[in-house]
Amino acid sequence: MLNDIQSIKKLAGEEIEKADSLKAIQDLKIKYLGKKGLLTAKIKSLGSIPQEDRREYGRILNELKVYIEELIGRQERIFKTAELNKTLQKQRIDVTVPGFYMPTGHLHPTTQVLDEIINIFTSLGFNVEEGPEVELDFYNFEALNFPQDHPARDMQDTFFIGDDVVLRTHTSPVQVRVMEKNTPPLRVIAPGKVYRCDADVSHIPMFHQLEGFMVDKHITMSDLKGVLEVFIQMVFGAETKVRFRPSFFPFTEPSAEIDISCVICKGSGCNVCKNTGWLEILGAGMINPRVFEMAGYNPDEYTGFAFGMGIERVAMLKYGIDDIRLFYENDKRFLEQF
Ligand code: PHE
Repeated sequence: MLNDIQSIKKLAGEEIEKADSLKAIQDLKIKYLGKKGLLTAKIKSLGSIPQEDRREYGRILNELKVYIEELIGRQERIFKTAELNKTLQKQRIDVTVPGFYMPTGHLHPTTQVLDEIINIFTSLGFNVEEGPEVELDFYNFEALNFPQDHPARDMQDTFFIGDDVVLRTHTSPVQVRVMEKNTPPLRVIAPGKVYRCDADVSHIPMFHQLEGFMVDKHITMSDLKGVLEVFIQMVFGAETKVRFRPSFFPFTEPSAEIDISCVICKGSGCNVCKNTGWLEILGAGMINPRVFEMAGYNPDEYTGFAFGMGIERVAMLKYGIDDIRLFYENDKRFLEQF
């Protein structure tokens, strides 16, 4: 029995030493310590040993068991570490490899300019209102003092939906809608889409306007001038000059077109301003008493100003864009510049 134990110890020592893989170690574990293992067999055979020797053999076998377990455990750890290092090496993450570019979108230039303009007017105390894009002839024309068959209706190439229904050609109908529902004082801006049957470098069938108006007792043209100057200098810079030029709109009297000093040449003359030094930016005027009457206001009590501007036009002047159609062609090379 002692000889057997000695040779098991020797063999186990040699074999475990020589094992060259985790698999080999695990096989040896079974060979010696498994249910039918060499050492296990010896331990099981203790029963057939005379009573007086059993204790001593038991102790020796137990020592051997601990010895083999330790040898195997040590080798196992070595191979496991090696294997782990191998997988870590294989799956190594090179943190210096440049990442993938994840393209992110941004707001459309029209929206950006519209937001900027809305912020300026709300900071001046104006409230934002909206009206429908499919509008009654009454609000788009009639209540704004465009009489039936008046040639002024030809100023705007209207998309008709029905006899009395149009796609609004401007945001001015919101003036009437707001006045009908509210009493002065009013300080309102009304941004939104408008539609005209027209298309060239400076016209598209759908574009954006922002209407603004102020109604109260004693509102004068100098209020209009003050508000527009503040607005224009905030958008185009403090050095921008503003000029009022007489004009005509059925719903304002007097009416004006407002020019700013050319954003490109600063007034000295270039091809953008066609050598005039000025760029037209919006239409405005004092609200026509006829409009007040149709909205149910007493024109002897209230006065007010109104103005309207094309948002894409403001963006074109601000960024030096020469073709309005670029806004809606969805060419990323254009859009990405904003
Ligand atoms: N509604 C006019 C247009 O579309 C602009 C405007 C608005 C003019 C308000 C005067 C007052 O051309």
